Amino acid sequence: MNAFIQGLPKVELHLHIEGSLEPELLFKLAQRNGLSIPYDSPEELRKAYEFEDLQSFLDIYYQGANALQTEQDFYDLTWAYLKRCEQDNVMHTEIFFDPQTHTERGISFGTVINGIDRALKEGEESLGISSQLIMCFLRHLSEQAALETLSQALPYKDKIIAVGLDSSEKGHPPEKFARVFTEARKAGFLTVAHAGEEGPAQNIYDAIELLGVSRVDHGVRCVESDALVEQLIESQMPLTVCPLSNIKLCVFESMADHNIVELLRKGVAVTINSDDPAYFGGYMTDNFLAVSQAHKMSKEEIAKFTLNAIDASFIDNEKKQAYRQRVNHYLNSES
Ligand code: HPA
Ligand code: ZN
Repeated sequence: MNAFIQGLPKVELHLHIEGSLEPELLFKLAQRNGLSIPYDSPEELRKAYEFEDLQSFLDIYYQGANALQTEQDFYDLTWAYLKRCEQDNVMHTEIFFDPQTHTERGISFGTVINGIDRALKEGEESLGISSQLIMCFLRHLSEQAALETLSQALPYKDKIIAVGLDSSEKGHPPEKFARVFTEARKAGFLTVAHAGEEGPAQNIYDAIELLGVSRVDHGVRCVESDALVEQLIESQMPLTVCPLSNIKLCVFESMADHNIVELLRKGVAVTINSDDPAYFGGYMTDNFLAVSQAHKMSKEEIAKFTLNAIDASFIDNEKKQAYRQRVNHYLNSES
């Protein structure tokens, strides 16, 4: 089964590009930019990646992002992630970036997006990996700050397919950003939001109702409401689930306790994603392997995660059909 998972064509829909910053690259960028790091080596830094909840992770994650300063840094970050996608047979990826993490430190919006975009274009041309970019608002910051970020994004609208919502879920419910998301939709952006990771099922309802999302990021706490699970099945609202992240941030005690396979079997449109792979112990293949080691599944069930992700992606129907064919062809040749 491990070889089947390794070779399976995959689609990633929940990846924070800043969360793919490996300690080795972080050290290299810090040195290039003349910054000091309070750790002696990448290995020592990696050992510090023990988290008890979302906030304890975010504190370290925002610190790590300080190493990113120039357009070349954002290019190098994105290119390194795309090379990992290539190893994991990822055909298509939809990437989050957090402009406010950088503009708050005086790095321009253009520096961030131009570096990321240049790598994505090269990834498409030389690695054959297609991609889209999703701009997230940091929910611990104000509505006003999000509105300003939205206006900064307008000149780059052709490079951004959707807006999202990330950072601390507790105390910052979807309704705080209802007006921002209405403005974003008017400007032509699709919308997604993190909801039901650490926050209650109500946040999932509200992300759907108040923010008009096309997908819910995480969403695993939907099981606290039977009616919500029914609604998710009926509407086929996709959930971008991040199994290793959920274990690292103690959303579930162990992978055996994770509900992703139960949701899949109920007919919820769940997908597997890596979230912040440099911090949570693995990329796409690692996440698939971790789920399959804890839950016995058939090859058809494993491939369904990719088929769900293709349906849930923001690519045109023709490309979706071509990607489905690749998965079905692989499944037929492997069974
Ligand atoms: N949740 C919320 N915010 C985030 C995450 C996450 O898993 N990763 C990066 N920012
Ligand atoms: Zn996330």
